[in-house]
Amino acid sequence: MTTPFYITTPIYYVNAKPHLGHLYTTVSADVAKRFHTMLGEDTFFLTGTDEHGDKIVKAAEKQDITPKAYADQISKLFSDLWPDFNIDNNHFIRTTDAGHIAVVKQILQKIFDSGDIYFSEYEGLYCVGCERFYTERELVNGKCPDHETEPEIIKESNYFFKMSRYQKWLIDHITKNPDFIQPERYRNETLAFLREPLEDLCISRPKSRLEWGITLPFDENYVTYVWFDALINYISALGFPDSDNFKKFWPQARHIVAKDILKPHGIFWPIMLKAAGIEIYNHLYVHGYWNIDESKMSKSLGNVVDPYFLQSTYGADAIRFFLMREMVFGLDSNFSETTLIERINTDLANDLGNLFSRVLAMFHKYFNGTVPEIAPGVRNGEQADLFEDAQNTIKEFKDEMQSLKFHKAIASIWNFISKMNKYVVTTAPWELAKDESQKDRLADVIFNLLEGLRVIAGLILPIMPQTSLTMQKHLEINAENALSTIDRIAQWGSIEAGTCLPKPVTLFPRIDTKNPKNKSRKNINQSKKDPKKTDQTPAKQDDSGIKSLPDLKPEITFEEVLKLDLRVATVIHAEKIPKANKLLKLEVELGEEKRTIVAGIAKSYSPDDICGKQIIVVANLKPAKLMGVQSQGMLLAAVGDDATTIATIEKSVPSGIPVK
Ligand code: ME8
Ligand code: MG
Repeated sequence: MTTPFYITTPIYYVNAKPHLGHLYTTVSADVAKRFHTMLGEDTFFLTGTDEHGDKIVKAAEKQDITPKAYADQISKLFSDLWPDFNIDNNHFIRTTDAGHIAVVKQILQKIFDSGDIYFSEYEGLYCVGCERFYTERELVNGKCPDHETEPEIIKESNYFFKMSRYQKWLIDHITKNPDFIQPERYRNETLAFLREPLEDLCISRPKSRLEWGITLPFDENYVTYVWFDALINYISALGFPDSDNFKKFWPQARHIVAKDILKPHGIFWPIMLKAAGIEIYNHLYVHGYWNIDESKMSKSLGNVVDPYFLQSTYGADAIRFFLMREMVFGLDSNFSETTLIERINTDLANDLGNLFSRVLAMFHKYFNGTVPEIAPGVRNGEQADLFEDAQNTIKEFKDEMQSLKFHKAIASIWNFISKMNKYVVTTAPWELAKDESQKDRLADVIFNLLEGLRVIAGLILPIMPQTSLTMQKHLEINAENALSTIDRIAQWGSIEAGTCLPKPVTLFPRIDTKNPKNKSRKNINQSKKDPKKTDQTPAKQDDSGIKSLPDLKPEITFEEVLKLDLRVATVIHAEKIPKANKLLKLEVELGEEKRTIVAGIAKSYSPDDICGKQIIVVANLKPAKLMGVQSQGMLLAAVGDDATTIATIEKSVPSGIPVK
């Protein structure tokens, strides 16, 4: 029986769009979850959004909508972003969920009944950005160290949670459990904080000042302080108190956060749990900041990197790899697009990509695509070494991953990749191929190389799931059998003789650094545009100034193609959209149904040109608003630099019929 594994990210505030910082924490948790699944553990991975409090009200006011409508909008940006990065969370919690609200009330009532919550007047320095009171000592030059803004002085009657009562208990707990807060620097920071007397925590806000929150169960004139509400998500999401998931996963809880929220997680949360009579979480893993030009990337400072841009430009796997390889968990890292491109070109295109295509190309050349039978007794020194290298790599990888040293775990895989490359050079299959008497040896060398690739495909799975899948497909391995657990990955000889393997593909195209698109960072910061609209690959331009075609997108499966519902539609009316010189609004007939489709074809087609034509549309595309018009599908067209030509069908057919 393995121990279950429960991993969480912070639930992100919905006062702004997701950025690279959020992506990093969420990818870390996803990598950890996928790795523990490979260890054969039962895993649960939670992320979500934090939706109450002053900040959200202020952001909603700016847009002139209700806090709930605002929260719905931004929360969706987070929940829609994660699948684009292959994030495999088991649940997405929102603090506006009814189930969560009920659990918060239940816990407040319990702590209130036990006498740890009292009513009193308080005056203090309050940072709206952090949603908390600061002591003078914590401020830097009178300002919040995180938001670099001066806190407001607030005086009011409120409910307080007697944290001070649990100070000694918490110090003991942290001292007795050295791995409770990791890495050690953050454990030390928490203990240093606890050397000063702990102030009680103000856990309410009067409704006269803030209404957007969970009403206190014992005083309806107050709402719950947003942190007291938010932290409880980690148990409400599991179905506290009676569900099987809660019983199974809570005793194994691990939280990942950045250092900005060490105090609520390292101090408030364990004390809240203790006061409510709930078991304390197991581990808190604290990472550093992604900085831009040495300052923290943050929505309040406005210097954030846009995940949509990264995904559409470089692909999800490359970004996941970069984030995990580049940052030492616990320390700060500076983000630069130049370093990102270097990593893609060196580690991914050169080292991994070349090895993969080189081995498969030799295999196809010498064995015509069929895995050879291995003659017994051909093993020599360097072949046994490769096997041993693989075993050592797996062991190292496992140890590093278990302690969240992602960068080291990845370095160990790349060390093995370089050993594979050396093995190619020392065994020189092209020489063996010239000599008929070396045929058995050649078969063994190629077989070992294929096995090495299989091990790599297995180990990169938690980090680059899509690339792992592509490699698996080219090695004809069924992840269920050969890679599902780390022990299976270690079993040399899983690729069966006689199997036919497909021709290799390019795993990672090199990024052309001369391409002007990559030279500037102007696109990298978050744009005001609809995030989904960045999903276009601009044409590349080489040195000669001649435009070349955009790179082909990564391979998809037949099942994925089948998800597209392509249909023939007849345009029955078309008109221009005011102030949008590229767009036409089309009324189309799709079988019985009439739909509106907004298409970016106005530069090439007038309304009259298109009216009456039969077009091909993606009929199951989620509707979206473009320039204020709801578009219910998109049409297919060939998009050149100067002209756009719509895809139509050769002979007239009834509208609505499928295109396959
Ligand atoms: O604090 N580098 O939400 P939040 C690395 N709602 N990680 C970063 C980062 C950066 N520059 N910027 C943000 C909140 N993050 C609360 C949490 S939990 C019960 C409530 C990541 O939207 C990192 O994980 O401000 C950080 O802790 C979190 O986003 C803060 O997200
Ligand atoms: Mg924050």
